[in-house]
Amino acid sequence: MNEITPLMAQYRRIKRQYHDCILLFRVGDFYETFYEDAVEVSRILNIALTTRDKKKKNPVPLAGVPFHAAENYVTRLIASGKKVAVCEQVEDPAQAKGLVKREVVEVLTPGTSMNAQLLEEREDNFCLSICLEGGHAGIAAVDVSTGDFFTGEAPLEDLHHLVQGKRVKEILAAPDFDKRVLTPLAEALGNPYLTESPEEDFTGDRVFEALRTQFGEDASEMAGELAPLEQRASGALLRHCHSLRNGRLPQVVRIRKLAEVSFLGMDDETIGNLELFQPLRGGVKSATLIETIDRTQTAMGGREIRKWLQKPLLSVELIDGRLQAVEELMRNTRLLETLSGILKGISDMPRIAARIAARKAIPREFHALRESLEKLPALIEALGDADVPLLRVISNHLDDHGNMVKMLDAAIVPDPPGHLREGGVIKKGFSPELDELIEANETAKRWVASLEKRERERTRIGSLKVGYNKVFGYYIEVSKANIPSVPPDYIPKQTLVNSERYFTAQLKEKEQMILETEEKRVDCEQKVFEELCEKVASRTHRLQTTSHAVAQLDVLLSLAIIAKLYGYRRPAVDATMEIEITSGRHPVLERIGAEPFVPNDLFLHPDRKQFALITGPNMSGKSTFLRQVALIVILAQMGSFVPAERARIGLVDKIFTRVGASDRLSRGESTFLVEMNETANILNNMTDRSLVLLDEIGRGTSTYDGLSIAWAVTEYLLQGVKARPRTLFATHFHDLTQLKAAYSRLFNLKITIKEWEGGIIFLRKIVPGTSDKSYGIHAARIAGLPSIVLKRAEEILHSLELRRSLLSQGVDLSNQSTTQYKLFGGPKTELPEEQEAPQEPDHDTLRDLKEFDIDRSSPLEALQFIKRLKDRLDK
Ligand SMILES: Nc1ncnc2c1ncn2[C@@H]1O[C@H](COP(=O)(O)OP(=O)(O)OP(=O)(O)O)[C@@H](O)[C@H]1O
Ligand SMILES: [Mg+2]
Repeated sequence: MNEITPLMAQYRRIKRQYHDCILLFRVGDFYETFYEDAVEVSRILNIALTTRDKKKKNPVPLAGVPFHAAENYVTRLIASGKKVAVCEQVEDPAQAKGLVKREVVEVLTPGTSMNAQLLEEREDNFCLSICLEGGHAGIAAVDVSTGDFFTGEAPLEDLHHLVQGKRVKEILAAPDFDKRVLTPLAEALGNPYLTESPEEDFTGDRVFEALRTQFGEDASEMAGELAPLEQRASGALLRHCHSLRNGRLPQVVRIRKLAEVSFLGMDDETIGNLELFQPLRGGVKSATLIETIDRTQTAMGGREIRKWLQKPLLSVELIDGRLQAVEELMRNTRLLETLSGILKGISDMPRIAARIAARKAIPREFHALRESLEKLPALIEALGDADVPLLRVISNHLDDHGNMVKMLDAAIVPDPPGHLREGGVIKKGFSPELDELIEANETAKRWVASLEKRERERTRIGSLKVGYNKVFGYYIEVSKANIPSVPPDYIPKQTLVNSERYFTAQLKEKEQMILETEEKRVDCEQKVFEELCEKVASRTHRLQTTSHAVAQLDVLLSLAIIAKLYGYRRPAVDATMEIEITSGRHPVLERIGAEPFVPNDLFLHPDRKQFALITGPNMSGKSTFLRQVALIVILAQMGSFVPAERARIGLVDKIFTRVGASDRLSRGESTFLVEMNETANILNNMTDRSLVLLDEIGRGTSTYDGLSIAWAVTEYLLQGVKARPRTLFATHFHDLTQLKAAYSRLFNLKITIKEWEGGIIFLRKIVPGTSDKSYGIHAARIAGLPSIVLKRAEEILHSLELRRSLLSQGVDLSNQSTTQYKLFGGPKTELPEEQEAPQEPDHDTLRDLKEFDIDRSSPLEALQFIKRLKDRLDK
């Protein structure tokens, strides 16, 4: 056994308390890590792993980083998903008797960071706490970088809706939290860092204790406005944050309820499929709606426009309010230019305010805050003429913060240093005490500075010098030759080879003065700075309100700018059930597409035109059209103008998409299962007001299974068993177009092409009618499939078509299965032997499918049913 030094014993004691963290242990000018932490840290940070007590039998692994560069290293540790505890020396080592006292002063996790390097400027950074009871979920979410705090409660199945669009970096839950809920939620949120909090933190007294610590006297009133599950989630969340920071979060001054405004629902699949924020796999980064519409000038505006896009509104009145403001800004070019000029100079106020409140701000941020606040009067004045309700509201929230500007102006020097360590931050005239200390310090320094001249005159030693060194302090230096002329009041201090150094009683006194005032000055400046933080912090709420107003204005300006730039038009949003779009365009594709974009029209009406079945060759633009309709609806309901000549949108409550085949192999689900899951989700959750976009359902299985499912789904949507949502269905199953005869609400659309010299030209115009061919082989040719494969595919296609036409004329081919291969004529082109022949329809299967009652079956039963069918077909 190794003998343990007192330092290592101290380390182990603290590490035991913070066993789930990387412990950064301050030793002098370094943060050290030991044992397994050291191994991990050296790997993550790519720094040297050494050992302590090398000579002993079991040397301790060690890796350290210099304290002044720690922020950067901590950032990287957290970014790689670690929880980091920072342990400081909490007493002056010079004063300490024995071992220096050390304490953990801060614990950092990905979801609770205020570190500017870790935060994305235009993204929120939420830590989300959840608790469940009786089929309901309560959540609380805090962004400590801004002080935003939200709560919400909903039935469990709406949990996803509750967190829609929140950028969550950390989830907090009790250890025995239902994994069946947690796992998919975490996955949908991009697998954030997971923190387990003890069950007790979510219950009883502890909850109120945490609320009281945070909100003091206001706690019971605030708690009263929360549902029980919201209270519990909030309590645990606050306790977690308090424990990380050794105290309350001064930047959190209010709680907002999520459910206050209802909004257009989109699940994660839909947000992903529509490429609102992220391009689909392999897409270029700029190919998203947010990149297209975000022209905001401020960081908080950048975050706000993301919120608007994540949560389009459901109230005609609120939408109209925004549209009206955008129109005003668009019409009034001068106002637009003035406002956007002013916004350019405004920094990230809410994050600065939060950092000041949490005592994390550096002097420069005060300066940035002042410069931003100084812009407010101009903003208010510019908005003075705008006679639009929403702009009025914004203007009213733009308090000019005149007193704070005055205070900051008087307090902080114009170009403050990055940190407070060496002082020089507080302006002269702000604190008489500080001024006195500075004055005394400078007077003494001036006295020393002029000493040389005075002493030369007095002693007549021309080479006499006054100097300073760190060890001996101030001295008067006289060369050996001049020593006889030294006056009697000189006291020897140090002897050098060629000279002698002296001091005088007065010089000693001044030196003392300089040192003392220097020390006091730093302390005093620290105190004044803290008082200043306190004063700014007491106005956190008002600063947050102003910042929010600036952010909203910024978003409205951005929407006006893109509307002007791209020729968008104001949509009419109303409470009808219709959607009418004239010459609509895809907002992203029209910007980055290789060919000029061809606009298209659409008219949906619940009685006459509820269901558009869209056919057209591969690559003709079906998926594009589906997406463009959804994007226009989303833009309109977020209050933006839209890429169309005219658009009338009857409010949409939810958008569902079933697009392409996305594998989620990580969850062990096959392509087909995912597709069916998504379809089931749509059929179970849609309402009459929903917009459903189906892009080729039934593709991930055999043709007949696929067609049957697509057929049944279509009928279900048209019959309105659960609801009759407005639907766009793009498909290659041309048989479906026959459904028109049975359902008057279905209408067929096709995408036009022109055949030309053996190939086809895409015209991209959408017109009534049905397309009869898929031209898949044409697309395959464009994609560069070997010509031998293309040729053979053409042969097979021809035979299949022939067979189909025979069947439709009533020719009995039931005995042909063994001779099928012959019917196809065998490969004229050389192909490998095991070419699989297409199968003929299995009538039993079709019958079973027809009889299967989707309404009375659970998704699981449906799946089992499909599996039975498949097994039968595979036999
Ligand atoms: N209206 C349009 N104007 C100009 N280009 C378009 C238009 N619609 C689509 N395109 C172009 O055609 C490409 C293919 O479109 P899209 O993916 O929508 O075809 P699709 O019919 O869904 O094909 P598939 O059947 O293979 O899924 C798009 O990436 C785009 O470049
Ligand atoms: Mg497509």
